[in-house]
Amino acid sequence: MAMNTVEHVTDLRIAVNGAKRSGKTVGLVPTMGALHQGHLSLIERARTECDFVVMSLFVNPTQFTDIEDFEKYPRDPIRDRALAEKAGVSLVFEPGVGDVYVKGFDTVVVARHLSDILEGKSRPGHFQGVATVVTKLINMVGADKAFFGEKDYQQLQVVRRVVEDLNIPVKIVGCPIVREADGLAMSSRNVRLSERQRSAAAILKKALDYAQEIADTGVHDAYALRAWMAQTIEVEAEAKLDYATIVDPDELRDVDTIDSGGIALVAATFGKIRLIDNKVLKPAPGYEVRR
Ligand code: PAF
Repeated sequence: MAMNTVEHVTDLRIAVNGAKRSGKTVGLVPTMGALHQGHLSLIERARTECDFVVMSLFVNPTQFTDIEDFEKYPRDPIRDRALAEKAGVSLVFEPGVGDVYVKGFDTVVVARHLSDILEGKSRPGHFQGVATVVTKLINMVGADKAFFGEKDYQQLQVVRRVVEDLNIPVKIVGCPIVREADGLAMSSRNVRLSERQRSAAAILKKALDYAQEIADTGVHDAYALRAWMAQTIEVEAEAKLDYATIVDPDELRDVDTIDSGGIALVAATFGKIRLIDNKVLKPAPGYEVRR
């Protein structure tokens, strides 16, 4: 069946309700467009788990803290729609700003602790914008499941928190990071890197892998592992480190050791482009968790 694109919530509901009436389960893949392999892997996963896949395509102004970042965010809806159709999306929801933020709009959703730390520190208001728009998209679509990349790990945790706290009847599915050949995590922002910045950006994944290699030798001290990651990134002249940390995977609070595992999160800017990456860190092979 040919893929349709709808702009208004009423048309979205008509299409989704039709699918639901015929017994189909509905999956949502929220995107801001500029689709890459990472998005396509979310669509693929959604297709394996749901009968009717809605992809939203909306560059959400409220999650940008920097107007230049918003304006320069890559946009190519014609290409995105073609890729979505080829990937097997059932319906594209491409609302205008006025369809999402209606006249008099006055409500926000915020996961307080999770929004203020890490990415939230350098991007105040970002996660409030994300949480609000994702809540709206899930509700507008009436999705059974919604699919998010693990690359934006903090975003994924914010969304999980909001859905649990507000009893939103949707299952959040986190999907593995898709990487370029040199390890760089796929991101719509990668196309804005210069050639030098692009090759330098592979340092983020190297630092994360390095942390695991050191952990594998038996070093579980999170302070030492953070320092190794930071040093690795700082040696790269094109990179300006923001943070290299290790936290617990749920609340993202700093851990002292990785005796019970942890997740390493890194962020750095390359020129004006901010990139993030992460990796689950495991204790050294053979190490038994003692409680
Ligand atoms: O990850 C993104 O592309 C965006 O933050 C999202 C989830 C589509 C909300 O605008």
